[in-house]
Amino acid sequence: MASCHSIIILMVTIIFAFCFTSNVEGRLRGNTFNNIYQSLSTNSNVDGGTKWAVLIAGSNGYENYRHQADICHAYQIMKKGGLKDENIIVFMYDDIAFSKYNPHPGVIINKPIGRNVYPHVPKDYTGENLTATNVFAVILGDKNAIKGGSGKILNSGPNDHIFIYYADHGAPGILGMPGDEPPIYAKDFIGVLKKKHASKTYKTMVIYVEACESGSIFSGLLPKNLNIYVTTASKPDESSYATYCGREPGVPTEYNNTCLGDLYSISWLEDSDRKDPNKETLKQQYAVVKKRTSRMSHVQQYGDVHLSTDYLALYLGSSEQTKTYFANQTEPNPPLFAVEQREADLIFFKEMVRRAPEGSKKRIEAQKRLDEVISQRKHVDQSVQEIAKILFGDIHGPSYLTINRPAGKPLVDDWDCFKAMVRTYERHCGPLQTYGKKYTRAFANFCNAGIHEDRMMQVSNQVCAK
Ligand SMILES: *[C@@H]1O[C@H](CO)[C@@H](O)[C@H](O)[C@H]1NC(C)=O
Ligand SMILES: *[C@@H]1O[C@H](CO)[C@@H](O)[C@H](O)[C@H]1NC(C)=O
Ligand SMILES: *[C@@H]1O[C@H](CO)[C@@H](O)[C@H](O)[C@H]1NC(C)=O
Repeated sequence: MASCHSIIILMVTIIFAFCFTSNVEGRLRGNTFNNIYQSLSTNSNVDGGTKWAVLIAGSNGYENYRHQADICHAYQIMKKGGLKDENIIVFMYDDIAFSKYNPHPGVIINKPIGRNVYPHVPKDYTGENLTATNVFAVILGDKNAIKGGSGKILNSGPNDHIFIYYADHGAPGILGMPGDEPPIYAKDFIGVLKKKHASKTYKTMVIYVEACESGSIFSGLLPKNLNIYVTTASKPDESSYATYCGREPGVPTEYNNTCLGDLYSISWLEDSDRKDPNKETLKQQYAVVKKRTSRMSHVQQYGDVHLSTDYLALYLGSSEQTKTYFANQTEPNPPLFAVEQREADLIFFKEMVRRAPEGSKKRIEAQKRLDEVISQRKHVDQSVQEIAKILFGDIHGPSYLTINRPAGKPLVDDWDCFKAMVRTYERHCGPLQTYGKKYTRAFANFCNAGIHEDRMMQVSNQVCAK
């Protein structure tokens, strides 16, 4: 647990090679995407297949600015590559661009001196329509199962190529959805991929996942014979990292209350901006991303690794205007500063206190909100620890919170038990929320040790009824 716990890793002062004196609009000018790329590029491959993309930002709230920024940036890359809007399906809560906290309404940037990545992003599944059920229905092309939203689905055929990119908070065995929406469980997600494969509605698929413990979604679960290649931001038991955060050198002060991107994500996104996708393979990109992320987390590969010899263009498309790629730029160094996903929202809550005038009503409210966030964390820490101690004793209990299964073994064998554990805990002790979800590993371990739902109910009640 200690590994997912330290607050901010500020190792050395970094020297940024650019200045940031001009205002954001000035910085944006000349960098905004325009639509000339579309007429110069094409979405059909030599084999007649169509390229599809599903882009999912799983969070909401200004404190999670970065996930939607990553997704919007990915959209701009797809668009530049010539994919059509009808083939790009976007899931994002869409509460950032016009948030009252956004210093530049209508603008979302994904790096300190960044272009606006918000324009033209399709609003397929926003707000309440951003659900795990809709994500699954979209991937399976199951129009009848969709509730709300644009109704756009992955209506793909046997020659098509699919790219799925998810960015948000995760936890062992799960990928988050906004607010109190049920998360995506790894077992269900893999089930959807198997079903999609069985329906013979794609040729190859690439999945990129930014989330804490994202390796746990695939490790020991994703078969190698589905024609799916995956990379994840982190191993099954480590955090992923936010970047361009808070008061980091180079981040404009008006953005000092949030993070603009995630490290694994901006590594592949900026690499895709820079390299000619007809000349760089997925494997080469994996190496670049792994290196840039290496000080913080370990980027992993799963599934059919042979597919990594494909060129990026097969999934991201390509613009024939090769001048729009700048491979001559030097590779960025791994940053010395990054923030664990689960700690990044504290930047927002703390800065809101700092910004409010001393003694004001605003200050009191901001302080109250920060206190609530911190006390909810303490409550989850204490209650899960106590449950483990009651179940396994004072000496052995704590190890159940962190114990890891050997590589290649799934997080849990009985996923119904796992879901029941989460449900039971939340019923008695309240929502885990983003931070508390890190304890899903403990719940998985309880199941693996043969603890049943009724015992969990009894103990949760005993601990949390107090
Ligand atoms: C959800 O989808 C429905 C149907 O398309 C739409 O009317 C509604 O505005 C959507 N809700 C949000 C929050 O976008
Ligand atoms: C953050 O930015 C705001 C607005 O630009 C400024 O008022 C505040 O002093 C900054 N906070 C810190 C800690 O630098
Ligand atoms: C890279 O090449 C582009 C286009 O040829 C040029 O505009 C840009 O200045 C070059 N960048 C560097 C760092 O040399």
